[in-house]
Amino acid sequence: MSLTIDFSNKTVVVIGGTSGINRGVAEVFARHGARIAVASRSDDKVQDTVASLKALGAETMGFSADVRDLAAIEGGLATVHEAFGIFDVLVSGAAGNFPATVNGMSANAFRSVVEIDLIGTFHVMKACFSYLKRPGASVINISAPQAFLPMEAQAHVCSAKAGVDMITRTLALEWGGEGVRVNSIVPGPIDGTEGMLRLAPNELVRKRVVESVPLRRMGSPEDIGQACLFLGSGLSSYISGVVLPVDGGWSLGGCGDMSSYLGSLARQKEQG
Ligand code: HXC
Ligand code: NAP
Repeated sequence: MSLTIDFSNKTVVVIGGTSGINRGVAEVFARHGARIAVASRSDDKVQDTVASLKALGAETMGFSADVRDLAAIEGGLATVHEAFGIFDVLVSGAAGNFPATVNGMSANAFRSVVEIDLIGTFHVMKACFSYLKRPGASVINISAPQAFLPMEAQAHVCSAKAGVDMITRTLALEWGGEGVRVNSIVPGPIDGTEGMLRLAPNELVRKRVVESVPLRRMGSPEDIGQACLFLGSGLSSYISGVVLPVDGGWSLGGCGDMSSYLGSLARQKEQG
């Protein structure tokens, strides 16, 4: 069977698209012909990503903004709309993470992650709505296994990502009548990323993570990009409100003993 997915003349916006998984997602869409806009806080990262997407042959642009700042996100998205027109696909994936127990984190530390991951997702989706193709647009939020699996030293991320999946489901209801599909993707452990650097910081934990994935490997940004291609394309035209793990089966087994490792590593650090 041959299958061609063509995003020529389609606009894909990737918020938090300047490193790791989300940058990989942007590159996959670029290789399938899409026009791409990326955004994140660092202008250097934005410029670097725009240059690499251009090198792949994509028409591309970017802007720097913090997802915690609704006005900045609105302003950046308005410039993208002016240049590229309506948005066919929105990928919202800006996030922050560090391992810390509740006893070892300040109220501001907890709030920071909730503000980036959850309130940031709300800002991005709200600011994009008027620019989304209706009917026909696809919104993809990048979640995490912490959304449904409690993990030690991850209370902030668990709380925030659970909220992300619930806003996904709620907006699938609210926007369904406009023909906009809204789904979440839950990446498993993705090799070479900032997230894995922070959560699996040594060879021992990395090895245990790999052993706990049923497919016995970490994923790649490309694995997540391919799932985004599917959810962004007409191949998934009747799929909305779904939270899709793309994790080699990792979450089926509770993500191995990542939780207890993170808890003991964080406690060691916090107790000095
Ligand atoms: C305890 C910490 C901390 C730590 C920061 N804080 N790091 N507390 N332990 N290790 C506290 C700070 O002291 C401060 O509280 C508050 O958090 C905010 O920190 P700032 O540095 O001022 O915030 P900011 O500059 O906004 O940076 C946000 C950040 C940062 C989340 C803290 O790490 C960041 O920008 N991260 C983006 C990149 C990232 O995290 N990528 C990984 C995503 S992976 P006080 O009280 O001192 O003011 C992911 C899921 C992976 O999300 C899942 C894998 C399975
Ligand atoms: P990453 O490289 O740190 O990517 C995070 C992106 O978000 C960067 O482009 C970053 O750029 C941007 N960003 C962070 N805070 C922001 C803010 N306040 N406003 C705007 N942009 C912001 O991390 P990653 O590991 O690839 O993770 C990407 C996504 O996948 C996240 O949603 C994460 O929760 C999810 N995830 C990751 C894994 C994994 O194995 N890595 C597993 C499950 C889920 P700037 O620094 O320039 O802002």
